[in-house]
Amino acid sequence: MSVGLLDVAACRAQFPSLTQRVNGYPAAFFDGPGGTQVPQRVIDAVSGYLRRSNSNTHGLFKTSRETDETIAEARKAMADFMGCSADEVSFGANMTTLNFALSRAIARDLEPGDEIVITDLDHEANRDPWLALEEKGVVVRSVAVKMPDCTLDHDDFARKVNEKTRVVALGYASNAVGTINDVKWASELAHSVGALCVVDAVHSALHAAVDVGAVGCDFLLCSAYKFFGPHVGVMYGRRDAFQRLRTYKVKPQDPEPPFKIETGTLNHEGIAGVTEAVNFIADLGEAAASGGGSFPCDDRRSDDHRTDDRRSSDRRSRIVAGFEAIESHERPLFRELMDGLRSIHGVTIFGLPADARRTPTVSFRLEGKSPAQVAGYLGERGIFVWDGDFYATTLVERLGLADKGGLVRVGIAPYNTMEEVGRLLDCLRELASGGG
Ligand SMILES: Cc1ncc(COP(=O)(O)O)c(C=O)c1O
Repeated sequence: MSVGLLDVAACRAQFPSLTQRVNGYPAAFFDGPGGTQVPQRVIDAVSGYLRRSNSNTHGLFKTSRETDETIAEARKAMADFMGCSADEVSFGANMTTLNFALSRAIARDLEPGDEIVITDLDHEANRDPWLALEEKGVVVRSVAVKMPDCTLDHDDFARKVNEKTRVVALGYASNAVGTINDVKWASELAHSVGALCVVDAVHSALHAAVDVGAVGCDFLLCSAYKFFGPHVGVMYGRRDAFQRLRTYKVKPQDPEPPFKIETGTLNHEGIAGVTEAVNFIADLGEAAASGGGSFPCDDRRSDDHRTDDRRSSDRRSRIVAGFEAIESHERPLFRELMDGLRSIHGVTIFGLPADARRTPTVSFRLEGKSPAQVAGYLGERGIFVWDGDFYATTLVERLGLADKGGLVRVGIAPYNTMEEVGRLLDCLRELASGGG
Protein backbone atom coordinates (compact mmCIF):
# COMPACT_ATOMS: atom_id res chain seq x y z
CA MET A 1 0.00 0.00 0.00
CA SER A 2 1.48 3.39 -0.99
CA VAL A 3 2.21 6.10 1.59
CA GLY A 4 -0.43 8.78 1.52
CA LEU A 5 -1.09 12.01 3.30
CA LEU A 6 -3.36 12.20 6.25
CA ASP A 7 -6.38 14.42 5.70
CA VAL A 8 -6.30 16.18 9.06
CA ALA A 9 -9.78 17.70 8.71
CA ALA A 10 -11.32 14.29 7.98
CA CYS A 11 -9.30 12.81 10.84
CA ARG A 12 -10.37 15.51 13.29
CA ALA A 13 -14.02 15.09 12.32
CA GLN A 14 -13.88 11.60 13.86
CA PHE A 15 -13.11 12.96 17.36
CA PRO A 16 -16.08 14.56 19.15
CA SER A 17 -13.96 15.89 22.03
CA LEU A 18 -11.93 18.18 19.76
CA THR A 19 -14.78 20.68 19.47
CA GLN A 20 -14.57 21.67 23.14
CA ARG A 21 -13.71 25.22 24.18
CA VAL A 22 -11.97 26.50 27.31
CA ASN A 23 -12.50 30.13 28.37
CA GLY A 24 -13.60 30.85 24.81
CA TYR A 25 -10.50 29.23 23.27
CA PRO A 26 -10.71 26.08 21.14
CA ALA A 27 -9.17 23.14 23.01
CA ALA A 28 -5.81 22.00 21.61
CA PHE A 29 -4.82 18.55 22.85
CA PHE A 30 -1.05 18.26 23.18
CA ASP A 31 -1.46 15.80 26.07
CA GLY A 32 -1.39 12.72 23.80
CA PRO A 33 1.57 11.02 25.53
CA GLY A 34 -0.64 10.84 28.63
CA GLY A 35 -3.53 9.41 26.57
CA THR A 36 -5.07 10.36 23.23
CA GLN A 37 -8.59 11.44 22.39
CA VAL A 38 -11.04 8.83 21.15
CA PRO A 39 -12.88 8.68 17.81
CA GLN A 40 -16.67 8.31 17.74
CA ARG A 41 -16.47 4.76 16.44
CA VAL A 42 -14.55 3.67 19.57
CA ILE A 43 -17.17 5.33 21.78
CA ASP A 44 -19.89 3.57 19.75
CA ALA A 45 -18.17 0.22 20.05
CA VAL A 46 -17.96 0.58 23.84
CA SER A 47 -21.59 1.63 24.22
CA GLY A 48 -22.74 -0.81 21.52
CA TYR A 49 -21.20 -3.69 23.48
CA LEU A 50 -22.91 -2.54 26.68
CA ARG A 51 -26.23 -2.10 24.87
CA ARG A 52 -26.30 -5.39 23.00
CA SER A 53 -23.73 -7.91 24.18
CA ASN A 54 -23.07 -7.22 27.86
CA SER A 55 -22.35 -10.53 29.57
CA ASN A 56 -19.67 -12.71 31.07
CA THR A 57 -17.77 -15.19 28.89
CA HIS A 58 -18.31 -18.81 27.81
CA GLY A 59 -22.11 -18.98 28.26
CA LEU A 60 -24.43 -20.82 25.89
CA PHE A 61 -26.54 -17.79 25.03
CA LYS A 62 -26.42 -14.86 22.64
CA THR A 63 -24.81 -12.10 24.70
CA SER A 64 -22.15 -14.41 26.12
CA ARG A 65 -21.30 -15.78 22.67
CA GLU A 66 -21.03 -12.20 21.42
CA THR A 67 -18.74 -11.38 24.33
CA ASP A 68 -16.45 -14.31 23.42
CA GLU A 69 -16.53 -13.09 19.82
CA THR A 70 -15.76 -9.50 20.87
CA ILE A 71 -12.66 -10.60 22.79
CA ALA A 72 -11.51 -12.92 20.01
CA GLU A 73 -11.89 -10.09 17.47
CA ALA A 74 -9.85 -7.76 19.65
CA ARG A 75 -7.06 -10.35 19.93
CA LYS A 76 -7.00 -10.57 16.12
CA ALA A 77 -6.95 -6.77 15.83
CA MET A 78 -4.08 -6.44 18.31
CA ALA A 79 -2.25 -9.32 16.59
CA ASP A 80 -2.41 -7.30 13.35
CA PHE A 81 -1.33 -4.23 15.30
CA MET A 82 1.76 -5.92 16.77
CA GLY A 83 2.56 -8.35 13.95
CA CYS A 84 1.92 -11.57 15.89
CA SER A 85 -0.72 -14.30 16.31
CA ALA A 86 -3.98 -13.80 18.17
CA ASP A 87 -3.01 -16.48 20.72
CA GLU A 88 0.00 -14.35 21.70
CA VAL A 89 -2.21 -11.37 22.74
CA SER A 90 -3.42 -10.92 26.32
CA PHE A 91 -5.50 -8.15 27.86
CA GLY A 92 -5.33 -6.60 31.31
CA ALA A 93 -6.25 -3.52 33.32
CA ASN A 94 -3.31 -1.49 32.00
CA MET A 95 0.35 -1.94 31.13
CA THR A 96 1.57 -1.52 34.70
CA THR A 97 -0.70 -4.23 36.10
CA LEU A 98 0.22 -6.65 33.31
CA ASN A 99 3.93 -5.95 33.84
CA PHE A 100 3.67 -6.66 37.58
CA ALA A 101 1.91 -9.96 36.73
CA LEU A 102 4.68 -10.73 34.22
CA SER A 103 7.53 -9.89 36.60
CA ARG A 104 5.99 -11.96 39.42
CA ALA A 105 5.53 -14.92 37.09
CA ILE A 106 9.12 -14.73 35.82
CA ALA A 107 10.34 -14.33 39.41
CA ARG A 108 9.03 -17.79 40.30
CA ASP A 109 11.91 -19.22 38.30
CA LEU A 110 14.61 -16.82 39.56
CA GLU A 111 17.24 -17.50 42.22
CA PRO A 112 18.97 -15.04 44.54
CA GLY A 113 21.93 -13.60 42.62
CA ASP A 114 20.14 -13.73 39.25
CA GLU A 115 20.25 -10.36 37.53
CA ILE A 116 17.79 -8.10 35.73
CA VAL A 117 18.76 -5.11 33.60
CA ILE A 118 16.47 -2.08 33.40
CA THR A 119 17.21 1.51 32.28
CA ASP A 120 17.25 5.00 33.79
CA LEU A 121 15.30 6.25 30.77
CA ASP A 122 12.21 4.18 31.43
CA HIS A 123 8.78 4.93 32.81
CA GLU A 124 8.61 3.46 36.33
CA ALA A 125 6.07 0.92 35.01
CA ASN A 126 9.00 -0.91 33.43
CA ARG A 127 11.36 -0.41 36.39
CA ASP A 128 9.43 -0.93 39.61
CA PRO A 129 7.94 -4.36 38.73
CA TRP A 130 11.57 -5.53 38.31
CA LEU A 131 12.99 -3.59 41.24
CA ALA A 132 10.31 -5.26 43.41
CA LEU A 133 12.16 -8.55 42.85
CA GLU A 134 15.15 -7.30 44.84
CA GLU A 135 13.28 -8.58 47.91
CA LYS A 136 13.91 -12.10 46.52
CA GLY A 137 17.65 -11.42 46.30
CA VAL A 138 17.57 -10.65 42.60
CA VAL A 139 20.14 -8.03 41.55
CA VAL A 140 18.71 -5.22 39.42
CA ARG A 141 21.10 -3.07 37.38
CA SER A 142 19.98 0.12 35.65
CA VAL A 143 21.59 1.33 32.40
CA ALA A 144 22.77 4.95 32.45
CA VAL A 145 21.43 7.68 30.18
CA LYS A 146 23.84 9.84 28.18
CA MET A 147 23.32 13.56 28.60
CA PRO A 148 22.38 15.95 27.11
CA ASP A 149 20.80 13.75 24.40
CA CYS A 150 18.89 11.52 26.82
CA THR A 151 19.91 8.36 24.93
CA LEU A 152 20.81 5.01 26.46
CA ASP A 153 24.51 4.43 27.06
CA HIS A 154 25.08 1.30 24.96
CA ASP A 155 28.55 0.67 26.41
CA ASP A 156 27.08 0.69 29.91
CA PHE A 157 24.22 -1.52 28.65
CA ALA A 158 26.62 -4.09 27.19
CA ARG A 159 28.69 -4.05 30.42
CA LYS A 160 25.64 -4.65 32.60
CA VAL A 161 24.32 -7.65 30.66
CA ASN A 162 26.21 -10.81 31.57
CA GLU A 163 25.74 -14.56 31.98
CA LYS A 164 23.73 -13.99 35.20
CA THR A 165 21.20 -11.73 33.43
CA ARG A 166 17.74 -13.31 33.21
CA VAL A 167 15.67 -10.35 31.97
CA VAL A 168 16.42 -7.17 30.02
CA ALA A 169 13.53 -4.71 30.32
CA LEU A 170 13.51 -1.46 28.37
CA GLY A 171 11.23 1.02 26.69
CA TYR A 172 10.68 1.26 22.95
CA ALA A 173 10.59 5.04 23.34
CA SER A 174 10.78 7.48 26.25
CA ASN A 175 7.44 9.01 27.22
CA ALA A 176 9.31 11.98 28.72
CA VAL A 177 11.82 13.00 26.07
CA GLY A 178 10.84 10.96 22.99
CA THR A 179 14.11 9.01 22.51
CA ILE A 180 13.51 5.87 20.43
CA ASN A 181 15.72 3.04 21.70
CA ASP A 182 17.39 0.36 19.61
CA VAL A 183 15.16 -2.39 20.97
CA LYS A 184 16.30 -4.92 18.36
CA TRP A 185 19.89 -4.49 19.52
CA ALA A 186 18.83 -4.82 23.17
CA SER A 187 16.80 -7.92 22.35
CA GLU A 188 19.78 -9.54 20.62
CA LEU A 189 22.00 -8.60 23.55
CA ALA A 190 19.53 -10.21 25.98
CA HIS A 191 19.28 -13.37 23.89
CA SER A 192 23.07 -13.62 23.56
CA VAL A 193 23.19 -14.48 27.29
CA GLY A 194 19.93 -16.46 27.32
CA ALA A 195 17.90 -13.67 28.98
CA LEU A 196 14.33 -12.65 28.16
CA CYS A 197 13.68 -9.22 26.64
CA VAL A 198 10.62 -7.25 27.80
CA VAL A 199 9.74 -4.11 25.83
CA ASP A 200 7.46 -1.31 27.00
CA ALA A 201 5.90 0.03 23.80
CA VAL A 202 3.32 2.23 25.53
CA HIS A 203 4.75 5.52 24.28
CA SER A 204 5.90 4.43 20.82
CA ALA A 205 2.63 2.69 19.95
CA LEU A 206 0.97 5.93 18.78
CA HIS A 207 3.76 6.86 16.43
CA ALA A 208 5.11 3.76 14.70
CA ALA A 209 3.84 0.32 13.72
CA VAL A 210 5.03 -2.28 16.21
CA ASP A 211 6.53 -5.40 14.65
CA VAL A 212 7.37 -7.87 17.40
CA GLY A 213 9.03 -10.23 14.91
CA ALA A 214 11.45 -7.53 13.78
CA VAL A 215 12.15 -6.45 17.36
CA GLY A 216 12.69 -10.05 18.41
CA CYS A 217 11.56 -9.48 22.00
CA ASP A 218 9.84 -12.08 24.18
CA PHE A 219 7.20 -9.83 25.72
CA LEU A 220 5.93 -6.42 24.66
CA LEU A 221 3.35 -4.31 26.44
CA CYS A 222 1.22 -1.38 25.39
CA SER A 223 -1.95 0.42 26.38
CA ALA A 224 -4.87 1.13 24.04
CA TYR A 225 -5.68 4.51 25.58
CA LYS A 226 -2.42 5.85 24.12
CA PHE A 227 -3.61 5.06 20.58
CA PHE A 228 -7.25 6.17 20.43
CA GLY A 229 -8.68 3.31 22.46
CA PRO A 230 -10.18 2.79 25.93
CA HIS A 231 -8.18 2.14 29.09
CA VAL A 232 -7.08 -1.43 28.40
CA GLY A 233 -3.57 -2.90 28.72
CA VAL A 234 -2.25 -5.31 26.08
CA MET A 235 0.60 -7.80 26.24
CA TYR A 236 2.32 -9.76 23.47
CA GLY A 237 4.00 -12.96 24.65
CA ARG A 238 6.15 -14.91 22.18
CA ARG A 239 4.52 -18.33 22.07
CA ASP A 240 7.28 -20.47 23.59
CA ALA A 241 8.29 -17.91 26.24
CA PHE A 242 4.63 -17.40 27.14
CA GLN A 243 4.08 -21.16 27.32
CA ARG A 244 6.88 -21.50 29.89
CA LEU A 245 5.65 -18.59 32.02
CA ARG A 246 4.31 -19.72 35.42
CA THR A 247 1.66 -17.07 35.97
CA TYR A 248 -0.37 -16.71 39.17
CA LYS A 249 -3.90 -17.76 38.29
CA VAL A 250 -7.06 -19.21 39.80
CA LYS A 251 -7.70 -22.93 39.29
CA PRO A 252 -10.53 -22.70 36.72
CA GLN A 253 -8.64 -20.18 34.57
CA ASP A 254 -7.36 -21.60 31.26
CA PRO A 255 -3.65 -22.45 31.82
CA GLU A 256 -2.68 -21.76 28.21
CA PRO A 257 -1.54 -18.53 26.56
CA PRO A 258 -3.00 -15.99 26.08
CA PHE A 259 -5.50 -16.60 28.91
CA LYS A 260 -3.10 -17.65 31.66
CA ILE A 261 -2.16 -14.07 32.62
CA GLU A 262 -5.71 -12.69 32.38
CA THR A 263 -6.93 -12.80 35.96
CA GLY A 264 -10.64 -12.33 36.60
CA THR A 265 -13.21 -10.77 34.31
CA LEU A 266 -11.76 -8.48 31.66
CA ASN A 267 -12.96 -5.01 30.66
CA HIS A 268 -15.17 -6.34 27.84
CA GLU A 269 -16.55 -2.98 26.73
CA GLY A 270 -13.06 -1.52 26.65
CA ILE A 271 -11.85 -4.50 24.64
CA ALA A 272 -14.67 -3.89 22.13
CA GLY A 273 -13.25 -0.39 21.77
CA VAL A 274 -9.70 -1.70 21.23
CA THR A 275 -10.74 -3.37 17.96
CA GLU A 276 -12.19 -0.10 16.71
CA ALA A 277 -9.08 1.88 17.71
CA VAL A 278 -6.99 -0.50 15.59
CA ASN A 279 -9.51 -0.33 12.73
CA PHE A 280 -9.39 3.45 12.96
CA ILE A 281 -5.62 3.42 12.36
CA ALA A 282 -6.06 0.93 9.50
CA ASP A 283 -8.72 3.18 7.97
CA LEU A 284 -6.43 6.20 8.33
CA GLY A 285 -3.95 4.22 6.23
CA GLU A 286 -6.55 3.30 3.65
CA ALA A 287 -7.92 6.85 3.42
CA ALA A 288 -4.41 8.29 3.12
CA ALA A 289 -3.40 5.78 0.43
CA SER A 290 -6.49 6.67 -1.61
CA GLY A 291 -5.61 10.36 -1.51
CA GLY A 292 -7.19 11.56 1.74
CA GLY A 293 -10.93 11.72 1.22
CA SER A 294 -13.61 10.23 3.40
CA PHE A 295 -12.89 7.48 5.86
CA PRO A 296 -13.89 3.98 4.81
CA CYS A 297 -15.77 3.75 8.13
CA ASP A 298 -18.00 6.69 7.24
CA ASP A 299 -20.50 4.54 5.37
CA ARG A 300 -20.61 1.72 7.91
CA ARG A 301 -22.85 1.29 10.92
CA SER A 302 -20.64 2.89 13.50
CA ASP A 303 -21.89 0.94 16.52
CA ASP A 304 -21.23 -2.49 15.03
CA HIS A 305 -18.21 -3.47 17.07
CA ARG A 306 -17.65 -6.77 15.28
CA THR A 307 -15.15 -6.86 12.46
CA ASP A 308 -16.05 -7.18 8.84
CA ASP A 309 -14.04 -10.22 7.60
CA ARG A 310 -13.63 -8.80 4.11
CA ARG A 311 -11.78 -5.80 5.50
CA SER A 312 -9.75 -7.57 8.18
CA SER A 313 -7.76 -9.69 5.70
CA ASP A 314 -5.36 -6.86 4.74
CA ARG A 315 -5.55 -5.03 8.06
CA ARG A 316 -1.85 -5.34 8.93
CA SER A 317 -0.76 -3.56 5.74
CA ARG A 318 -3.42 -0.88 6.27
CA ILE A 319 -2.20 -0.35 9.86
CA VAL A 320 1.38 0.08 8.61
CA ALA A 321 0.11 2.58 6.01
CA GLY A 322 -1.83 4.32 8.79
CA PHE A 323 1.32 4.80 10.82
CA GLU A 324 3.23 6.06 7.77
CA ALA A 325 0.48 8.64 7.23
CA ILE A 326 0.53 9.55 10.94
CA GLU A 327 4.29 10.04 10.82
CA SER A 328 4.17 12.11 7.65
CA HIS A 329 1.60 14.37 9.32
CA GLU A 330 3.35 14.66 12.68
CA ARG A 331 6.92 15.32 11.44
CA PRO A 332 6.43 18.84 9.97
CA LEU A 333 4.36 19.89 12.99
CA PHE A 334 7.08 18.65 15.29
CA ARG A 335 9.82 20.46 13.35
CA GLU A 336 7.82 23.68 13.55
CA LEU A 337 7.33 23.13 17.29
CA MET A 338 11.03 22.45 17.92
CA ASP A 339 12.18 25.42 15.78
CA GLY A 340 9.70 27.65 17.59
CA LEU A 341 10.73 26.43 21.04
CA ARG A 342 14.42 26.94 20.22
CA SER A 343 13.71 30.54 19.21
CA ILE A 344 12.05 31.46 22.53
CA HIS A 345 14.38 33.12 24.99
CA GLY A 346 14.66 31.12 28.22
CA VAL A 347 13.49 27.76 26.82
CA THR A 348 15.71 24.73 27.47
CA ILE A 349 14.83 21.59 25.52
CA PHE A 350 15.83 18.17 26.90
CA GLY A 351 16.68 15.38 24.48
CA LEU A 352 17.46 14.82 20.82
CA PRO A 353 16.97 17.26 17.91
CA ALA A 354 13.79 17.11 15.82
CA ASP A 355 15.16 14.95 13.00
CA ALA A 356 16.82 12.32 15.19
CA ARG A 357 15.33 8.88 15.93
CA ARG A 358 12.64 10.12 18.27
CA THR A 359 8.90 10.50 18.69
CA PRO A 360 7.22 13.92 18.30
CA THR A 361 7.12 14.38 22.07
CA VAL A 362 9.30 17.11 23.58
CA SER A 363 10.00 18.20 27.14
CA PHE A 364 11.39 21.58 28.10
CA ARG A 365 11.62 24.21 30.81
CA LEU A 366 11.06 27.95 30.65
CA GLU A 367 13.43 30.05 32.72
CA GLY A 368 11.77 31.82 35.63
CA LYS A 369 8.59 29.72 35.50
CA SER A 370 7.87 26.34 37.03
CA PRO A 371 6.53 23.65 34.66
CA ALA A 372 3.21 23.82 36.59
CA GLN A 373 3.03 27.58 35.95
CA VAL A 374 3.63 27.02 32.23
CA ALA A 375 1.08 24.19 31.98
CA GLY A 376 -1.45 26.20 34.01
CA TYR A 377 -1.00 29.29 31.81
CA LEU A 378 -1.48 27.23 28.65
CA GLY A 379 -4.37 25.28 30.16
CA GLU A 380 -6.29 28.52 30.84
CA ARG A 381 -5.91 29.28 27.13
CA GLY A 382 -7.27 25.90 26.04
CA ILE A 383 -3.86 24.36 25.36
CA PHE A 384 -3.41 21.04 27.14
CA VAL A 385 0.13 19.97 28.05
CA TRP A 386 1.52 17.90 30.90
CA ASP A 387 3.94 19.01 33.59
CA GLY A 388 5.92 16.97 36.13
CA ASP A 389 7.84 13.73 35.67
CA PHE A 390 5.17 11.65 33.87
CA TYR A 391 6.41 8.69 35.98
CA ALA A 392 9.75 8.87 34.18
CA THR A 393 10.86 9.64 37.70
CA THR A 394 14.42 8.33 37.47
CA LEU A 395 15.21 10.27 34.29
CA VAL A 396 13.86 13.47 35.82
CA GLU A 397 16.01 12.82 38.91
CA ARG A 398 19.07 12.31 36.68
CA LEU A 399 18.27 15.63 34.98
CA GLY A 400 18.35 17.24 38.44
CA LEU A 401 14.76 18.42 38.08
CA ALA A 402 12.95 16.20 40.59
CA ASP A 403 12.61 18.96 43.19
CA LYS A 404 12.08 21.69 40.60
CA GLY A 405 8.72 20.60 39.23
CA GLY A 406 10.16 18.43 36.44
CA LEU A 407 9.39 19.32 32.85
CA VAL A 408 6.71 20.65 30.53
CA ARG A 409 5.78 17.99 27.97
CA VAL A 410 4.17 18.61 24.59
CA GLY A 411 3.16 15.68 22.38
CA ILE A 412 2.00 15.85 18.77
CA ALA A 413 -0.88 13.55 17.80
CA PRO A 414 -2.44 12.93 14.36
CA TYR A 415 -5.33 15.30 15.12
CA ASN A 416 -3.07 18.29 15.92
CA THR A 417 -2.71 21.09 13.37
CA MET A 418 -0.05 23.62 12.39
CA GLU A 419 -2.42 26.34 13.62
CA GLU A 420 -2.50 24.74 17.09
CA VAL A 421 1.30 24.56 17.15
CA GLY A 422 1.38 28.27 16.26
CA ARG A 423 -1.03 29.09 19.11
CA LEU A 424 1.05 27.13 21.57
CA LEU A 425 4.24 28.92 20.53
CA ASP A 426 2.54 32.36 20.64
CA CYS A 427 1.34 31.69 24.20
CA LEU A 428 4.81 30.57 25.27
CA ARG A 429 6.38 33.68 23.71
CA GLU A 430 3.86 35.81 25.60
CA LEU A 431 4.69 34.04 28.86
CA ALA A 432 8.44 34.23 28.25
CA SER A 433 8.26 37.96 27.63
CA GLY A 434 6.60 38.67 30.95
CA GLY A 435 2.93 37.72 30.42
CA GLY A 436 1.15 35.54 32.99
C1 LIG B 1 6.20 4.69 28.42
C2 LIG B 1 5.10 4.29 29.34
N1 LIG B 1 5.14 3.08 29.92
C3 LIG B 1 4.19 2.66 30.77
C4 LIG B 1 3.12 3.46 31.07
C5 LIG B 1 2.08 2.93 32.01
O1 LIG B 1 0.98 2.53 31.26
P1 LIG B 1 -0.40 2.21 31.98
O2 LIG B 1 -1.02 3.52 32.34
O3 LIG B 1 -1.18 1.47 30.93
O4 LIG B 1 -0.11 1.36 33.16
C6 LIG B 1 3.02 4.74 30.51
C7 LIG B 1 1.92 5.63 30.87
O5 LIG B 1 2.01 6.82 30.76
C8 LIG B 1 4.04 5.16 29.61
O6 LIG B 1 3.99 6.36 29.03
